[in-house]
Amino acid sequence: MVSLFVLVPLAHLSQLPERKRSNSPLTVLTAYDYPTARLLDEAGVDLILVGDSLGMVVLGLPDTTGVTLEMMQHHTAAVRRAVQRAPVIADLPFHSYQTPEQALASAQRLMDAGADAVKLEGGVALIPQVRAIVQAGIPFVGHIGMLPQSVREEGGYKKKGKTPEQGHQLLADARALDEAGAIAMVLESIVPDIARDITHSVRASTIGIGAGRDTDGQVLVTHDLVGAFPWFRPPFAKARADVAGETLRAAQEYIRETQG
Ligand code: KIV
Repeated sequence: MVSLFVLVPLAHLSQLPERKRSNSPLTVLTAYDYPTARLLDEAGVDLILVGDSLGMVVLGLPDTTGVTLEMMQHHTAAVRRAVQRAPVIADLPFHSYQTPEQALASAQRLMDAGADAVKLEGGVALIPQVRAIVQAGIPFVGHIGMLPQSVREEGGYKKKGKTPEQGHQLLADARALDEAGAIAMVLESIVPDIARDITHSVRASTIGIGAGRDTDGQVLVTHDLVGAFPWFRPPFAKARADVAGETLRAAQEYIRETQG
């Protein structure tokens, strides 16, 4: 049965704990530019993520490791100009948080560009960086499981939590981030049972991607959702529009009509 109950979308990060308590799933989508961010905000998405996935789906890089802090500032500022309601999370890019001091300085630059919160990839090993950010009063979002910034070291994108050791490590990472003051954490490509256990073990809101349904919310790369990047789409992402097809059609119609 289709529910007629429509949740009021999030307007402030302070509403996250209540959404977790009331078991009301959070919707999160990525945006890197003004029109997309404005449309997502108007559509009622709860949170907008300026993800470093922009390296692949906007800039044509092979992975996220070529994304710089300057790029993230540039795109965060564009999204900020568009968004009136949804809190905006910005990714700290590769090598921008190697020490606690660098993490705080980089986080501050993203906040100055208009972010409401920052996200970085990693668990227990990154707690000094997380503490530096949180203690400065900057809202922080974690990211554990498959870490796209580590894809070269790991030799590919792999599902996490398949062995008991990995499951224990993921739970330890999640608890450490929670203790350090994360308000939310992305669980990427984690086996669903571990994602569910993490969700029940932390105060922070869990936001899953390729981690099953038992998380506090879901995130997708908007290009995957609207079919704007036809050359690659992860298997868990259902395209609900065909922006690539429409763009090709409109461009070809224009070419035909202009050339007579
Ligand atoms: O960069 C990004 O878009 C992300 C999501 C996949 C969670 O981190």
